[in-house]
Amino acid sequence: MSVSFHESNGVFRLDTPNATYMISLVDEERFLAHLYFGRRIPDDLPREMLRIPEEDYPSRKGRERLAFLDGLPTEYPGHGLGDMKQSCLEVETPEGYRCCGLTYRDHRIFGGKPKLPGLPATYGGPEDCDTLEIIAEDKVLGLTVRLFYTAFRKIDAICRSVRVENTTGRPLRLRTALSACLDMDDQGQYDLLTLHGNWSAERMINRRPVTMGKQGVSSRRGISSHQEQPFLGLLERTATQTRGQVYGMNLVYSGNFLGQAELTQQGQLRLVLGIHPEDFCWHLEAGEAFQTPEAVLTYSCTGISGMTHAFHDLYRNHLIRGPYKNKPRPSLVNNWEATYFRFDTEKILAIGREAAAAGIEMLVLDDGWFGKRDDDCSGLGDWVVNEGKLPGGLKHLVEELNRMGLRFGLWVEPEMVSPDSDLYRAHPDYALQIPGRVPTESRQQLVLDISRKEVRDHVYAMIHKVLSSANVEYVKWDMNRALTDVYSPALGPDRQGELYHRYVLGVYELQERLLTDFPNLLLENCCSGGGRFDPGMLYYSPQIWTSDNTEAIDRLRIQEGTSLIYPLSSMGAHVAACPSHTNNRTTPFATRGRVALPGCFGYELDMTKLTPEEKALIPGQLEEYRKYGPVFHNGDYYRLASFGENHACDVIMAVSKDKRVAVINYVEVENRARCRALRVELAGLEETALYRSSLTGEVRSGAGWMYAGMLLPRLEWDYSSALIVLEAVAQ
Ligand code: DGJ
Repeated sequence: MSVSFHESNGVFRLDTPNATYMISLVDEERFLAHLYFGRRIPDDLPREMLRIPEEDYPSRKGRERLAFLDGLPTEYPGHGLGDMKQSCLEVETPEGYRCCGLTYRDHRIFGGKPKLPGLPATYGGPEDCDTLEIIAEDKVLGLTVRLFYTAFRKIDAICRSVRVENTTGRPLRLRTALSACLDMDDQGQYDLLTLHGNWSAERMINRRPVTMGKQGVSSRRGISSHQEQPFLGLLERTATQTRGQVYGMNLVYSGNFLGQAELTQQGQLRLVLGIHPEDFCWHLEAGEAFQTPEAVLTYSCTGISGMTHAFHDLYRNHLIRGPYKNKPRPSLVNNWEATYFRFDTEKILAIGREAAAAGIEMLVLDDGWFGKRDDDCSGLGDWVVNEGKLPGGLKHLVEELNRMGLRFGLWVEPEMVSPDSDLYRAHPDYALQIPGRVPTESRQQLVLDISRKEVRDHVYAMIHKVLSSANVEYVKWDMNRALTDVYSPALGPDRQGELYHRYVLGVYELQERLLTDFPNLLLENCCSGGGRFDPGMLYYSPQIWTSDNTEAIDRLRIQEGTSLIYPLSSMGAHVAACPSHTNNRTTPFATRGRVALPGCFGYELDMTKLTPEEKALIPGQLEEYRKYGPVFHNGDYYRLASFGENHACDVIMAVSKDKRVAVINYVEVENRARCRALRVELAGLEETALYRSSLTGEVRSGAGWMYAGMLLPRLEWDYSSALIVLEAVAQ
């Protein structure tokens, strides 16, 4: 068992391969203190490590309660009773006060991991993980709070969530219910790693020293957002890709969140992650319960790559579900950048013919196939095939494509409505809006009140009918704006604070319904590019559209930030036309292919307009994807050089789990005069195995490639690229 309780010293332990997490029961009151999270150690730490006896707590009558509570590293801090740092739990009583604090009542330890009702979460059986459930209480309120911790046996990951049960016998208002807290000492040794961005530049990496006060990431857009990511990384200042201690925290959630690091004058560092307390207030009747989303905590003593591997392994094996889990994803062509809204059956079939001839496996029909949708001003919500564009409906089109040997995928945007649509004309109340206020449009559209079952049922029935009308094997689920005007007449005035979260729960319920009714479907989530690229969405769709920015050089940085946490198998990545529709840059077709290769590979251009030279490259690109896609998708990923840092070149590497094959993907962005060949130290190889390089034919030991390194060839042109394969040779 990876979880244990030691009665004699009141210590709970969670052990993963390289990490130990300890919780200590303190005093007769049995406060739940955070004793340790770090490199694996065999012995339990003494409670002195909690610094309780230090002079920080002077008093003539002994210890001061306020100083004690403010200094104690706390597992799950309540509010207003002495701990002055960020609260994780805040409940408002019928009297109107918000103070609460937890102590231990009981616990359970069991194999496996329970599901979280209505929420996405990692999963695992007793052979994979063990769970500690601490039953805590606020004795004065009579409130019960269950703290769940699951330790994975083969992955350095601990997954936490909290269930607040109103056992007080009276109604309560839950003002704050975060998912996890991590208190630790910081004597100036940590950097904070976060991801920030905007539309077409998602998940840019930011690393800076932790400073005094509060800092972090958040979203109040109703989606996890392009701008910030529900992730905090904490690194030893000297940590590199392969060395040093690195902690990661990621929220399995797709709506508003707060991720915060708080450093006090005394060197106490508190990391918290959960649903953003602003715009949140959940009414709990007596007997009702609230389940927080799950927070994933990872630990690495092998630098950033160790953290990345823990997230990748956890998400590939214990979050992603369905028939495409750890399976090759079809290569596809998407018509969005090829045609935008201007297409008909003939145009799509013409693209399909070229795609099929080149060996592409699937065609995805994007926005514009339904209702009155010739631009983005109308039609959302009217999920009926536009027979003006597609006579004979989807059935005819899909049958023709299937005859060519192509599978078919379809774009939908179920959460939205255009004011100019039959749906809106019939049901204006289905949209989120505030009576008497002009609703804030974005992309000429409004957000449906997905918290309401009748709205979900209506939209779902229409989409279900379309999907059932033809052989649709893939769905791209888009969502093209943030939430505003967040008010629902269906909820009473005292429940409006539940709406953001209820919206997210509604989206999850809809996607679960879709997967249940179409169990073989490949779902790809999308949010105006990568605005909802988070673990919550990954639970439903094994791949997510990474960014609307399909330009290869910009993509290097977007994919670097994304792959810090998310497996390469989750990143939709396409070869697009040049000059790029995003930034007008022109790059070689081959390099566009190399940049897309590690992800879920496809084309996003008009296949009928390619030059013969470009067309001739496609079979080779598809062959590379067939052969090496699985190494990128299922292997261990390493970042060898970062264009974001060096502004010249980008080098990534992936090693198959059996360490027989490694692929190195190299893009020389800026060719510099008189520059010496770049030497990169490879990683992840078997030290004593021999590997042959596809570039030079040289055979060398894994140790040789890793410690002496490889000289990458000078490629001579800006935006050139190379794929180098190392294969183990028989000894
Ligand atoms: C935003 C997506 O990110 C694009 O790929 C495309 O599907 C458009 N929406 C369609 O409106």
